[in-house]
Amino acid sequence: MRRGLAAGNWKMNGLSTSLSELEALVAAHAEPGCEVLICPPATLIARAAQLAEGSAVMVGGQDCHAEGAGAHTGDISAAMLRDAGASHVILGHSERRADHGERDAQVRAKAKAAMAEELVTIICVGETLEERDASNTLDIIGGQLSGSIPDEATGHSLVVAYEPVWAIGTGRVAEPAQIGEVHDFIRGRLERRFGAGVGRSVRLLYGGSVKGANAAEIFAVSNVDGALVGGASLTAQDFSPIVTALEEAAD
Ligand code: 13P
Repeated sequence: MRRGLAAGNWKMNGLSTSLSELEALVAAHAEPGCEVLICPPATLIARAAQLAEGSAVMVGGQDCHAEGAGAHTGDISAAMLRDAGASHVILGHSERRADHGERDAQVRAKAKAAMAEELVTIICVGETLEERDASNTLDIIGGQLSGSIPDEATGHSLVVAYEPVWAIGTGRVAEPAQIGEVHDFIRGRLERRFGAGVGRSVRLLYGGSVKGANAAEIFAVSNVDGALVGGASLTAQDFSPIVTALEEAAD
């Protein structure tokens, strides 16, 4: 049985004042029926982790470097995330692939470093609209999966997030049938590569314009074990109904 995961990616949003949203989330979900994770910007991780300590809400990073330490100005290592109180890290988000030219091999190296630090690693995959229109979606996803996921991955250390690029921040959600097709494909690929035991225990999240209003429909799709949420994770008021929808989907 896979436990649901409602993950919020604050991206480059959040100042000290935003921690009140995390506080409200912690208060609203004392004993959630699923896992709840917030990935704030790096500047807030340590304070967020302190605030959430002892609660059911976990805190994660949005990226890490593949090396443990060294001359890499502006970068953060997996050990630093762990030291700041993070338990998870998002890697290979399409915005990092687009803004920073991250390739699968780099994502894989980062994931290996994150897993070595015992961070749960959320690896993002997803096609652009052009790739979907050219009927290349599954080829693209398949390539990203084999290139980005390290051999060390386990059912605990790996989470895969399917985030169609055209659905991120656009208000355009993939249809349940489109989500189901890709999630079933990802499950099959993981089972083939890692065996049924590991392949079936990796959580698969959908991301892209998830809101309280559409969450239940998305969580009803086969092989959807939760969501990676951007805009609607920034306030407790918007994120809380998504957590509740995931709890209800597990009942
Ligand atoms: P939105 O929920 O804002 O579309 O962002 C999704 C996302 O990119 C989460 O990582």
